Amino acid sequence: MFGRLCVHASALFALALAPLPSFAGSSRFAADHPAWRAECGSCHTAYPPALMSAPAWRQVIGALDRHYGTDASLDAGTGAAIAAFLERNAGVGRKAAQPYATGVLRRTGGTPSLPRITESAWFTREHDEVPAATIARPDVRGFANCGACHTAADRGDFSERALRVPR
Ligand code: HEC
Ligand code: HEC
Repeated sequence: MFGRLCVHASALFALALAPLPSFAGSSRFAADHPAWRAECGSCHTAYPPALMSAPAWRQVIGALDRHYGTDASLDAGTGAAIAAFLERNAGVGRKAAQPYATGVLRRTGGTPSLPRITESAWFTREHDEVPAATIARPDVRGFANCGACHTAADRGDFSERALRVPR
């Protein structure tokens, strides 16, 4: 019995040492669409669709004229094409930012806010070691500016190899 346990343990150990292809995609995002890249990448990084759930993307697309303090309106055709792309490639797992809850808005009596990738539980945990002083730097100005640290963000590559946190 102990012998078998041992075999299992060493097999697991070997697995842990081997490169894990199933994880390789977790920091690289391949989904691409020309209109999305051009329109949603013109003011900031074209944020990977997989980092938001489909209902959250619907809230973002449904309020482009009130877009985080700016107007990002699109003509109806382009908007619909981008919405379809975002929903098709939206995230489903724990990494995906969720839509805002209307109950919270009612309680706070606040203006409708939009969901943020940078406020999701996954994002906060993944970035909790970045010092506040780094975020405040004039060449960073907030977590929404992914490219300040992820030098290949525009190609959907958020791997550690392309990470350079300014200091
Ligand atoms: C006219 C400029 C402009 C365009 C075009 C634009 N955005 Fe934005 N977007 C902003 C600004 C400004 C913010 C707020 C950034 C900040 O908080 O630092 C923002 C924030 C966001 C955020 C939240 C980022 C976070 O903190 O998690 C998402 C998601 C987003 N935009 C998606 C989109 C999508 C999708 C499109 C294309 C349909 C788009 N944006 C087009 C200006 C723009
Ligand atoms: C101030 C620098 C900074 C900014 C801005 C930033 N990140 Fe990061 N990011 C980091 C650091 C540091 C890590 C952690 C790397 C580690 O410990 O593996 C990280 C990790 C990640 C990972 C996980 C990578 C992996 O290897 O698993 C993803 C995905 C990611 N960031 C996406 C984003 C997105 C999307 C944005 C913009 C909305 C963003 N980051 C903005 C510094 C930053």
